[in-house]
Amino acid sequence: MEQTEVMKPETLNDLINILHKLFEADEINVEEVQDIMESYESKPEEWMKYAKFDQFRYTRNLVDEGNGKFNLMLLCWGEGHGSSIHDHTDSHCFMKLLQGQLKETLFEWPDHKSHGAMVQKSQRILQENQCAYINDSIGLHRVENVSHTECAVSLHLYSPPFQQCQTFDQRTGHKNTVKMTFWSKFGARTPFEATVSQENN
Ligand SMILES: [Fe+2]
Repeated sequence: MEQTEVMKPETLNDLINILHKLFEADEINVEEVQDIMESYESKPEEWMKYAKFDQFRYTRNLVDEGNGKFNLMLLCWGEGHGSSIHDHTDSHCFMKLLQGQLKETLFEWPDHKSHGAMVQKSQRILQENQCAYINDSIGLHRVENVSHTECAVSLHLYSPPFQQCQTFDQRTGHKNTVKMTFWSKFGARTPFEATVSQENN
């Protein structure tokens, strides 16, 4: 598909409006979504109200439900916080850095027959404003804020939205299904009962 028009979002609201338009279509152009998310220049005052941190692990904070086509959320990573190795439930996953840096480690899907350590494919550091993309055909990944002094904030878009995924043990390749919840929705803290099973994404 040709990219017909270059749209540069000036604000986070602009970006959300453009994403709504793009995801009205039956098929999305991954590169186009990635370019548009990357071209938004992060301004903390625009997303600060969604940025809620926890002392012990990263948080997932819902920003927009994308007319049912996607979920847009802010992930807030304290110093040293990281995800487990996980899949993306057959969805598209876009991940844009709004603040700080994140390390992404890519893994191959574990082989049914082998029970050994998972195979690492690549590793990279994502910089502020960069937008990464992954889906299950690319592989699995782990995301980490390896900094001991800086927190990190990332903007994630998942389409179609999903509420559970699989996590993998790096040493054995064994998997678990985990349900995911939000630490906050639209800037307001989610009631406690709904967050106890929060897991990776
Ligand atoms: Fe992910």
